[in-house]
Amino acid sequence: MCGIIGCNGVEGAASAITQGLERLEYRGYDSAGIAIIDNKKIRYEKKKGRISVLIKALKTQSDFVGSIGIGHTRWATHGKPSDENAHPHISGKFAVVHNGIIENYRQLKEKYLKLVSLKSDTDTEIIVQLLNRLYSGNCLETLSNTAKLLEGSFAIAVLCEDEPDTLYCVRKSSPLLIGVGNGVYAASDLSAINDRIHTLYRMNDGEIAVISKTEAEFYTFDKKKIVKNPEEFEKAESNCGKENYEHYMLKEIYEQPAAVQKTVDAYLENNKFRLDFELNKPERIYIVACGSAYHAGLAGKRIFEELLKIPVIVQVASEFRYSNPLINENTPTIIISQSGETADSLAALREAKSRGAKTLSIVNVRHSSIAAESDYVLLTRAGQETAVATTKAYSAQLAALYMLGIYFAEKFGTADSKTTEKLKSQLETLHTAILSALDCEMQIKELAQQLQSAEHIYFIGRGLGYAAACEGSLKLKEISYIHCEAYAAGEMKHGTISLIEKGTNVIAADTEPKLSPKLQSNIDEVVARGARVTAITSQGKIKADSVIKTPAVNELFAVSTQIVPLQLLSYHIARLRGCDIDKPRNLAKSVTVE
Ligand code: F6R
Repeated sequence: MCGIIGCNGVEGAASAITQGLERLEYRGYDSAGIAIIDNKKIRYEKKKGRISVLIKALKTQSDFVGSIGIGHTRWATHGKPSDENAHPHISGKFAVVHNGIIENYRQLKEKYLKLVSLKSDTDTEIIVQLLNRLYSGNCLETLSNTAKLLEGSFAIAVLCEDEPDTLYCVRKSSPLLIGVGNGVYAASDLSAINDRIHTLYRMNDGEIAVISKTEAEFYTFDKKKIVKNPEEFEKAESNCGKENYEHYMLKEIYEQPAAVQKTVDAYLENNKFRLDFELNKPERIYIVACGSAYHAGLAGKRIFEELLKIPVIVQVASEFRYSNPLINENTPTIIISQSGETADSLAALREAKSRGAKTLSIVNVRHSSIAAESDYVLLTRAGQETAVATTKAYSAQLAALYMLGIYFAEKFGTADSKTTEKLKSQLETLHTAILSALDCEMQIKELAQQLQSAEHIYFIGRGLGYAAACEGSLKLKEISYIHCEAYAAGEMKHGTISLIEKGTNVIAADTEPKLSPKLQSNIDEVVARGARVTAITSQGKIKADSVIKTPAVNELFAVSTQIVPLQLLSYHIARLRGCDIDKPRNLAKSVTVE
């Protein structure tokens, strides 16, 4: 949420910054801006709209030459998207870009900036106004004094005209990486600078970076110098573009077999796990996540309970963190997150740790905060995911959960070896079933034609089918803007069935054969009230208006194949409706605010 970038000692800083912003655009795309120092003067441009609008505006100007600068792509928190509210914010000799939320901005305004008339409605402007107000002639000292006043989360990059050869960065609870290459860079995530750097540092909370043209020094908020070791990192994959696909989302849907195969291969070889988590059989397990990752957790619960025979509590992170969760050192907590930066999930991880729980994260981004702070990490290998709506990372999360379920079942001795051996060999070939599931695209395109004008669509399922229904519903609503709801099929008759009338569309996910007769009854109940039902199933038994067949897999893994037609359906409906598929309105990929 919001992407920031900065660089120093880089010839043509403006173009390095706009290129980086294009790669960070998935973090927020309602406005963008840039500031550079040229001849000891700050020059800036900021525009409502996509990065392309900013780039167009920059082309009309000749004075954006300089080797130091900062840039920002915004997801509005305080103040609507507008030129004025876009970053950078400027005051006196300072320019600031910020990712996060300053929670005490009203109090700070009241206490320190009573007489200042603000130019924007943002919390960020308070930072730059404070820097200007508290400026002692020493930037590091001023930044340290300002940072100590700020409450909330912030990753900040700062320019000061008095120090035209130094870039400053500050971090508390919002991600920030520093890279050294031909020049020195700062960015919200590695993808923005990966191909420009050879050395990477991860800033931790409470740190200030002082960046010259060739190196970075790190300090605490009390100005004590920190010695920091570089992090290992992998150079960017070459296949980060859209290739021949019309949208990243479609490309990423098609990358799912590879994402699952790579994730499984990384930890399972010749039916043996390469996992080493020191855990004894606990009384219960928590799984905590947001959005699609939470939906992966719903499937994880069902699988863990089946294989481990212990209760598993799945909670959305924003609820968990304030719910006084019943965990202690004997309650391992699994955090699932593609980005590894989701603010609520990170806070949940910290909450679990503070209660003594061992934490295990399933993350896709190696250098993320959640990965860095967890006791154990299972890294999914989905590669960079660019479309805001997750597909391949979600599938890789499911694969990770299957592995963990089987691994713990072996470790705790809660399932017989015949069962776990069979599951492991089926898991090693799951990617081929996902590949076959993609064959349904032609049929899905026809279905999308029929459903494109629907106002409401209901998704139902039982057991793991309910987990698939939740994810299918979220996928469709977030990119097509059709109102969708997911229900445990048997729960419809307790209220929601009153919304079913002639022509209402219902999609049913049939995953577990033992539950199919029950699901069929629920389908019949909505059909009796006029609903038009599409069933996704790997068996031939379900009767519905349309049936989408998915390849037969072990029922515990069926979400992985059934989600494929649901993702494709969302994609094709959104495409027919002319929606901005990769960047749906109001959303951002990495949700780094509460
Ligand atoms: C939906 C989607 C979101 C994320 C959620 C958590 O398509 O992508 O619901 O799943 O914001 O994000 P991560 O996994 O990065 O913690």
